[in-house]
Amino acid sequence: MVSFSYAFVLVLLFGGSIANPVDPHQNKLDVNHKKPLQTFRPYNVAHRGSSGQMPEETTAAYLRAIEEDADFIEADIVASKDGHVICFHDVTLDATTNIADRTEFADRRRTYEVERVNMTGFFVVDFTLEELKSLRVKQRYDFRDQQFNWKYQIITFDEYILIALYADRIIGIYPEIKNPVFINERVKWSDGKKFEDIFVHTLLKYGYKGKYMSEDWLRQPLFIQSFAPTSLIYISKMIDSPKVLLIDDTTVYTQDTNQSYDEITSDGYLAFIRRYVIGIGPWKDTVVPPIDNYLGPPTDLVARAHALGLQVHPYTFRNENKYLHFNFHQDPYAEYEYWLKEIGVDGLFTDFPGSLSNYQECRMPYTQKGRTEPPLAGDGKHAEE
Ligand SMILES: *[C@@H]1O[C@H](CO)[C@@H](O)[C@H](O)[C@H]1NC(C)=O
Ligand SMILES: *[C@@H]1O[C@H](CO)[C@@H](O)[C@H](O)[C@H]1NC(C)=O
Repeated sequence: MVSFSYAFVLVLLFGGSIANPVDPHQNKLDVNHKKPLQTFRPYNVAHRGSSGQMPEETTAAYLRAIEEDADFIEADIVASKDGHVICFHDVTLDATTNIADRTEFADRRRTYEVERVNMTGFFVVDFTLEELKSLRVKQRYDFRDQQFNWKYQIITFDEYILIALYADRIIGIYPEIKNPVFINERVKWSDGKKFEDIFVHTLLKYGYKGKYMSEDWLRQPLFIQSFAPTSLIYISKMIDSPKVLLIDDTTVYTQDTNQSYDEITSDGYLAFIRRYVIGIGPWKDTVVPPIDNYLGPPTDLVARAHALGLQVHPYTFRNENKYLHFNFHQDPYAEYEYWLKEIGVDGLFTDFPGSLSNYQECRMPYTQKGRTEPPLAGDGKHAEE
């Protein structure tokens, strides 16, 4: 069960923006008496919230994920034309909002080059926060529940943080510095500030800080993620919170350094980047490339990352049959079993955090382990360096 400040949730669910976000330090958020983050088993990261059920990156998706016992709620952070940071996955509004129905914005359609591909649509960076707040969002996939379409708004990075801070147990956040090269090209802030500065400033404002497993971190758990290594290196001077380098298909090139992810996953590069990051977040097919919808032989990426003391949090786990390789007999628990027991990863990004927490409660129940106990042998979880 989750109890929130009721008025706060009403504001988030039924519209209106929070003009003056409550300063958590002046409120009785009382983290000392909350159920702590579990750290004895791999992390359940709710990918864009409980996005399998609710429209992604909405208050409803995040509240559902918290009810379902996720450890972290995950978000993509991009910026509006007027420099506000918001939770939204795509650089364009087309796939998951009602922008097409808003004829007053018809002339905002543009073509921009994003990560070396020309894209056409209504770009987030061409709309002010007020305009973005006037839109409503929908479920991304047509094979998922459509009944929540057009009920929810885009939320800001601040509102997302407040959802975590107001939960009645400790819930971590896992925000991504999304498309930083493109955002910095298109959005300008005063004093020459960059997207990454605004991103970190928002976290610092709410008291996020501290190395992995430090007291500060356990009070307000945070992983910062990005596909752009230079963004993670840049912010390492501003915030000591743990960072995770995302890894795409090995054929893709990084948006900032134009390195192939083949190069990024080399021993030499991993040994370099571990000075800045606590772990990597690879696409699961990069770890275990499939062949004809069956699992192929696993690569040695997890073993090499673990040898360097790096955690591995692969993405994205989804319950639907179309995403389950035939080895798993259409059973998402069998997929979790494989990744947690055979591959030995340290966290998973899932669209269905409720299924992952049910699986984990069957296999590694919370009640039998205190958070101070050492990790189980062979579960792939590594202590901090
Ligand atoms: C995108 O379109 C512009 C204008 O037509 C062109 O100059 C550019 O080369 C294109 N970029 C890519 C990556 O195709
Ligand atoms: C990125 O690197 C690839 C491979 O080295 C090269 O072919 C390509 O021209 C580079 N692209 C840019 C934009 O530098």
